[in-house]
Amino acid sequence: MTGADPLLRWRKEFPILAKTTYLISHSLGAMPSRTASSLQQFAETWATRGIRAWEEGWWEMPVTTGNLIGSIIGAGPGEVVMQQNVSICQSIVTSCLDWNGPRNKLITDGLNFPSNDYVYHGLERQGARICRVPSADGMSLPTERMLDAVDEQTLLVSVSHVAFRSAFIQDLGAITRRAHEMGALVIADLYHSAGVLPVDVRALGLDFATGGSVKWLCGGPGAGYLYVRPDLRSGLRPAATGWMAHRHPFEFQPGPIDFADDAFRFLNGTPGIPALYSARSGYEIVNEIGVEAIRAKSLRQTERLIELADEAGLSVRSCRDPRSRGGVVVVDVPKGEEVTRELARREILVDYRPNAGIRIAPHFYTADEELELVITEIGSIVKSAVCS
Ligand SMILES: Cc1ncc(COP(=O)(O)O)c(C=O)c1O
Repeated sequence: MTGADPLLRWRKEFPILAKTTYLISHSLGAMPSRTASSLQQFAETWATRGIRAWEEGWWEMPVTTGNLIGSIIGAGPGEVVMQQNVSICQSIVTSCLDWNGPRNKLITDGLNFPSNDYVYHGLERQGARICRVPSADGMSLPTERMLDAVDEQTLLVSVSHVAFRSAFIQDLGAITRRAHEMGALVIADLYHSAGVLPVDVRALGLDFATGGSVKWLCGGPGAGYLYVRPDLRSGLRPAATGWMAHRHPFEFQPGPIDFADDAFRFLNGTPGIPALYSARSGYEIVNEIGVEAIRAKSLRQTERLIELADEAGLSVRSCRDPRSRGGVVVVDVPKGEEVTRELARREILVDYRPNAGIRIAPHFYTADEELELVITEIGSIVKSAVCS
């Protein structure tokens, strides 16, 4: 099956691929087999080293694991810290800012993941004004709309780099430049770009970036990450904090926190160590392959999916322009949810989102034959009794 595609050699590293057509890495990336040994290593370390494990690596793990993400998103060593998830990272970042002054607008793009908006609306009680820039079709958003929304009262601009529903890519560079011209900060949600699309937080000049490991990074649940531009660090005092963010955590000083100078400043309580063990194999593999190679394959395979869908007469709802298309192709068919369930019964995993359609995501381990299979099966299910 490897043929001319060198990335197919990775298939044997992912046990689920032996029996399942796995086109759902935009939701839960496949588990690498080495994750099982990594989790075993966690258990053995705890069992044999006990409390000493903290000073033998566990304490530093939010940063050492973050370094593996850093090399995927263009951040330097010590600039990314691990957290449990994106929602927590959003809460930490927004808790650093003063929403009570005249500059109190938070601009959120209309394609943002809802959980980010839930966090933002919670800031209204502190004086924040939340301005959502609507998307006309729920799938895309012209960059000009975002640029026009940013003004002198804007404190933070929140952008989902690649929209979860449609895989539409937003122009992070242009939005960041405009925000900075206006004196505003930018937080980017990289969940649907990191690992499948080249991202460079430094080149983009991002102030904050966050994402998680569940999807393209094949790292499993419980490992979100937070990047903060290093020169902003000393001016930021997160209200959402904890003892690990203290300069001298083991002095257990009462009263207001004396923040650490490094990225530990953005930590809080005891980290979810097993999740960090579980996450790192996926990061190592993505680093080993390189995101450029993953993107090149993804562009070729998403293009092929669109071609196959067109030939089968299925309606494609995701962006056809490769420059604005992330790793997912969305195909809209009647009774899409039922079709998705039937595909699962046939051991083909994709998912369905209302107001969008069936989301199909090839990743570096996907074989071209699987693209043909999913489109053929969708076509046959649509024609069959399931949809009549
Ligand atoms: C773009 C995006 N951001 C955030 C989230 C939610 O992240 P978490 O569960 O880590 O808070 C998701 C989940 O699908 C997502 O797609």
